[in-house]
Amino acid sequence: MEKIKIRGRHDLCLKGTVKISGAKNAVLPAIAASLLTKEKVHLQNVPQVKDVFTILTLMKDLGAEYEINDNSLCVQVRKINSYEASYTLVRAMRASILVLGPLLARYGKAMVALPGGCAIGSRPTDLHIHGFEKLGASIDLEHGYIRAESSRLQGTKIEFERKTVGGTENLLMAACLAKGETILKNCAKEPEVVDLCTLLIKMGARIDGVGEDVIRIKGTAELGGASHNIIPDRIESGTFLIAGALAGDSITIKNVRPDHLHTVIEKMKYSGVPITELSTHSLIVSKQENLKAQDITTSPYPGFPTDMQAQFTVLMTQAEGTSIITETIFDRRFSHINELLRLGANIEVSGDKAIVKGKTHLSGAETTATDLRASASLVLAGLIASGETTITEAHHLDRGYENLEKKLISLGADIERIKE
Ligand code: EPU
Repeated sequence: MEKIKIRGRHDLCLKGTVKISGAKNAVLPAIAASLLTKEKVHLQNVPQVKDVFTILTLMKDLGAEYEINDNSLCVQVRKINSYEASYTLVRAMRASILVLGPLLARYGKAMVALPGGCAIGSRPTDLHIHGFEKLGASIDLEHGYIRAESSRLQGTKIEFERKTVGGTENLLMAACLAKGETILKNCAKEPEVVDLCTLLIKMGARIDGVGEDVIRIKGTAELGGASHNIIPDRIESGTFLIAGALAGDSITIKNVRPDHLHTVIEKMKYSGVPITELSTHSLIVSKQENLKAQDITTSPYPGFPTDMQAQFTVLMTQAEGTSIITETIFDRRFSHINELLRLGANIEVSGDKAIVKGKTHLSGAETTATDLRASASLVLAGLIASGETTITEAHHLDRGYENLEKKLISLGADIERIKE
């Protein structure tokens, strides 16, 4: 088991520059998209995080060859050897379901384990399944697997009942090789969906309406190789912005896309955090003593991202007044609150709301990480809690943050990983 130990201080002063890595949630669908072609797909700005290695293990099982050097990855799937994503891999990472669309489109068959429960809430796959059925696939759910088959998918109109990032990505990829035109309505508009469209267009896909509610895809018989630079991780950027707001003395955050973080930056500025744009791809953030409480409600892009909810909650423990944090995307995404209470935060959970009363003095304690973003929020709280904070189950962090501890240490944090 791995633990993170942080020796925090109220008057911690983080200084320096941090470079944001490529987006985990953009690279996972990009890797799955390489199943759509026999040719090489080159990806740059690839974060070396655990989820990337999990999907690469799955891709290898399916027949992919790959090479990864630093942050550059080359994947080639000359021939598909297997069409199954096992329960072990899907349980380790739900995004494994993203191979379903490409496998079905190129190979005509896919078998992907049903993901089951998750620490942040129930995460069904009905919207993916319904979409594939509309494209003409026959789907059976048996023995804990989704079994999908189709000769050639047939373009059609699909309206998502609710916004789904993974559902939009899966159907988009499948539709690229379907016969005729597919119209997807009520699509997710997250930057990661847009990045996938950019890659698919480079591979030869004919897509209109990128970043809009309605996306039209004219299917083609084949796609080719491409080279693509993955967008910066907006959630890692947001996490460092909060670190800067809690303890920064002019931290520079490089390789960031402020336009992808508009809602988070706006809320932080309303709270009083000084954030300035140094250039189109870098921001400067500093601590501000008299923060004002702000309410947030998570919602699909361009709304406030659910993946920043836990980190923003920590910031609100340091603001004067009461903030109401409403989580509308997932039904159990407050597991970090009990851990924050152990550090001295004053937060009450009622249904889909967390009511944060600030400003509280945090003091170090033993805590347990439950998922990726909850872990990040505990690291942030630990930085400014007086004394020692330990976080067990630290492996959650490695799923989505590249070198988080190293980056924080370079800014002056006292943080270490302990292997037991
Ligand atoms: N949903 C359904 N049916 C479906 C699919 C989704 O009801 O068939 C529901 C989900 O239960 C959820 C909502 O729709 O309540 C949104 O789910 P979505 O499909 O948009 O999420 P996802 O694709 O599974 C991605 C990110 C998550 C991020 C969410 C929301 C990846 C690999 N994961 O998940 O990232 O929270 O979108 O923005 O892109 C993280 O990085 O920590 C993380 C959890």
